Amino acid sequence: MSQSIAVIKGDGIGPEIMDATLRVLEALECGLEYEFVDAGLVALENHGTLIPQASLDAIEKYGVALKGPLTTPIGKGFSSINVQLRRHFDLYANVRPAISFPGTRSRFEDIDMITVRENTEGAYLSDGQEMIDDGNTGISVIKVTRKGSERIVRYAFELAKSSGRKKVTAVHKANIIKTSSGLFLDVAREIAREYPEIEFQEMIVDNACMQLVMNPHQFDVVVTTNLFGDILSDLCAGLVGGLGLAPGANIGEKAAIFEAVHGSAPDIAGKKLANPCALLLAAAQMLDHLGMADKGDAIRRGIRAVLETRRDMVTPDMGGTGTTDTFAQALVEYVQA
Ligand code: NAI
Ligand code: MG
Repeated sequence: MSQSIAVIKGDGIGPEIMDATLRVLEALECGLEYEFVDAGLVALENHGTLIPQASLDAIEKYGVALKGPLTTPIGKGFSSINVQLRRHFDLYANVRPAISFPGTRSRFEDIDMITVRENTEGAYLSDGQEMIDDGNTGISVIKVTRKGSERIVRYAFELAKSSGRKKVTAVHKANIIKTSSGLFLDVAREIAREYPEIEFQEMIVDNACMQLVMNPHQFDVVVTTNLFGDILSDLCAGLVGGLGLAPGANIGEKAAIFEAVHGSAPDIAGKKLANPCALLLAAAQMLDHLGMADKGDAIRRGIRAVLETRRDMVTPDMGGTGTTDTFAQALVEYVQA
């Protein structure tokens, strides 16, 4: 039986990079069936809402979505669609690999790590949960629960186990934010005892920033709360050459949404200049998730090979002279060879 997924092409460069990605998935003969659904500006224009019910239904039905970047309109009444999707499907784990590729402007080689960010609580609560907001004083809430911490730390250890990784680092600020970050650290220590075969390390977030920049190779899997994870995962993207190569997965019990980390890049939309790699690497994560890790690896190997040997086919952000389409073409040729 073939696997079906929901596909959201998205706004701006979304359709261009999605078409490139689907070409490579076809060449890999992944046997996926697609239901194309709308979200973002396209959906607002076609259906009068940023996320139509039919799109939510498709994601719920298949449990897996591949999503292009969405433009959130500026102005009151529009809350981020990505945040809405994470809440709606309780996508508690934000999983962002940071892997070095050749031919980038990165200052390091051979980085291979994953940040696992708690995606549903921490400092990112629904609107209206500020304690005080009177124009003179602003007090916001940080919420950390035992349940939320347990599931994210366990997710990190299980990921380490299933992907042959050796170490999990819990990043926190328990020395200062004793209540919430302290609870997260306590729970991380408890869960770590269930995985004696995996090394457990604790690190305070400010030190973690310095250590990541000085000696990133010491990290393997990093698990942390929402705000720290947001910041650290972008730092890690910077370590390996920037947004053009940064994928992310949002994973819950019932659904998983795979996407590029970058946005809809309206400045280059329609010009065939968009680098499709971040979405392709998100598709590779999706293939891992669907039990097709060999095909996920083929995408990662292909990107490596094309960046090394086909500079004429690579997009300008990677220093090449090609287009979105030639990049995809080079990858198709690689996987078919
Ligand atoms: P952006 O990531 O779209 O663009 C930042 C810069 O990076 C731009 O110069 C852009 O040309 C470049 N860039 C981004 N992706 C690229 C790619 N694949 N290849 C080559 N260059 C690329 O961020 P920005 O401008 O802050 O946001 C634009 C829109 O995207 C906003 O409406 C924002 O809300 C939305 N957004 C959506 C996200 C999502 O759906 N996951 C994530 C971030 C932003
Ligand atoms: Mg962020």
